[in-house]
Amino acid sequence: MTPVAFTSFTAPVAPVLTGKTVLITGASRGLGRAIALDCARHHANTLLLGRDVRRLEALADEIEQIGAPPATLIPFNLEGATVEDYGTISALIGEQFQKLEGLVLNAAVLGELAAIENYDPLQWARVFQVNVHSQFLLVQACLPVLRRADSSSVIFTSSGVGRQGRANWGAYAASKFALEGLMETLADEQAGVSSVRVNSLNPGPMRTRMRALAFPAEDPGTLPDPAAIAPYYSYLLSEASLGLHGQALTIPK
Ligand SMILES: NC(=O)c1ccc[n+]([C@@H]2O[C@H](COP(=O)([O-])OP(=O)(O)OC[C@H]3O[C@@H](n4cnc5c(N)ncnc54)[C@H](OP(=O)(O)O)[C@@H]3O)[C@@H](O)[C@H]2O)c1
Repeated sequence: MTPVAFTSFTAPVAPVLTGKTVLITGASRGLGRAIALDCARHHANTLLLGRDVRRLEALADEIEQIGAPPATLIPFNLEGATVEDYGTISALIGEQFQKLEGLVLNAAVLGELAAIENYDPLQWARVFQVNVHSQFLLVQACLPVLRRADSSSVIFTSSGVGRQGRANWGAYAASKFALEGLMETLADEQAGVSSVRVNSLNPGPMRTRMRALAFPAEDPGTLPDPAAIAPYYSYLLSEASLGLHGQALTIPK
């Protein structure tokens, strides 16, 4: 196994995503929404997965207004979905787009912030369902359509606490560590046998609902807007980043 590189990198300004089809989970708000908009601005076909249909529809309208290819909505609850439901997404992509060039695994929940000693087991299971199991199921279901593309990119969204444990971050931290393991394992399996690239990216602190839940006393005005982070994802989705595979990436401060 190649050692994981905990590297920072610099994204170029204008990646080319024209003609590429990209599925983004958790597109209803926060970082996922910003990634979807950035991909659309670079003329990708965007597939917006989320459970809040009204928010997804509003985003699709915004995408239409900027003159990007029409977005496809995938109303989906990562907590309750069955294995068959993931297969249905992959089949839909195959029918409508033939192949998938980008899979952005972004959706996550924070769960409770509590010491392991006191952590609620039901919350623990819920966090792992959304943050880990659903991502395994989605990437597994999508591998056939990802492999059909000449070049495709899978991005797991990590966190600082997925690389260095921190007291009271419980299931969220453990789930992000698990994602790093999933990324590394999948990257090693795909290396040399397919054109699927797999990386993880720690976006760092951003002005989103999740951050506000974790740090209620923090002034959100001191944090970057997720729109400033989204171009790093577009870069990783584009062929400008072809050399990056199996990397645990961090955005430089
Ligand atoms: N914000 C930060 O400072 C920060 C720092 C490091 C890493 N991250 C990571 O960045 C990613 C995006 O976080 P964010 O800050 O943008 O969080 P956010 O504002 O809370 O957005 C999370 C997204 O995930 C979706 N989601 C949650 N549970 C779902 C479910 N069961 N089914 C479908 N969708 C579901 C949410 O949908 P709903 O709208 O329906 O709830 C929402 O679209 C996450 O992976 C997070 O761990 C964030």
